[in-house]
Amino acid sequence: MRLAIVGVGKMGRELEATAARRGHEVVWTLSRDQNPGGAGLTPERLAAADVVLEFTAPDSAVPDLLACARSGASVVCGTTGWQRELPRVAEAFAKGGGALVHGTNFSVGVRLFFEIARAAAERFPRAGYAAFLVEEHHAEKRDAPSGTAKTLSAIVAEAAGSAPPITSVRAGTVPGLHRLVFESPEDEVELIHRARGRAGFAKGAVWAAERVVGRRGVFEFGELLKEVS
Ligand SMILES: NC(=O)c1ccc[n+]([C@@H]2O[C@H](COP(=O)([O-])OP(=O)(O)OC[C@H]3O[C@@H](n4cnc5c(N)ncnc54)[C@H](OP(=O)(O)O)[C@@H]3O)[C@@H](O)[C@H]2O)c1
Repeated sequence: MRLAIVGVGKMGRELEATAARRGHEVVWTLSRDQNPGGAGLTPERLAAADVVLEFTAPDSAVPDLLACARSGASVVCGTTGWQRELPRVAEAFAKGGGALVHGTNFSVGVRLFFEIARAAAERFPRAGYAAFLVEEHHAEKRDAPSGTAKTLSAIVAEAAGSAPPITSVRAGTVPGLHRLVFESPEDEVELIHRARGRAGFAKGAVWAAERVVGRRGVFEFGELLKEVS
């Protein structure tokens, strides 16, 4: 498969390594200076790739996605902090005829963690436990709370009736840690996901690219996983 990468940062480099390991060719990459406001995503460039992997920054994702949508491209977007704009982006993909897979977390372990969080949130609050969330990421991460923490909070809110408070820590080089705690005056129960690096996110994103090639529409990463589980 011919892959292209927008955003040559920590995830972009991890994606290049993962793509090579899975036997794919990276036909081009774009950095911020080559792509102001999505201007580097020309129809010619997009036609040269089967799937574009977009891992940039919250302010860049929407212009990038709209440019890809106009050309009917297939995109896997892992950038966080732009999801309020999803309806506008989804409409553009529907018009352009391309495909988008989006997700705040492409780790399969985190997806299973979401399912366990839902089951726990259906039980502990009813038994008198209060929930809270703590997430930790490296000092360079631009958005807070993390997209994953927001998703976890929404899952707990849906199951328990109220959203747990979130505390964010930005320090050092932490690739990603999420703790969901249920506490009572007597005890506490803690569910933790700790990423050991970025390889799990990259593996999920490249897998999503393999699944979406040749398809049309807008998919959340979890929907693609459900198709195979
Ligand atoms: N969904 C997931 O599983 C997952 C996992 C990890 C990270 N993420 C998210 O993915 C995004 C990237 O993470 P990261 O750790 O790789 O961050 P990073 O190291 O800061 O890399 C992002 C790169 O994208 C560049 N960039 C920004 N706007 C651009 C544009 N319009 N065109 C091309 N390149 C552009 C940045 O350049 P400048 O430095 O010049 O701004 C930077 O080099 C973040 O939103 C993060 O939260 C998602």
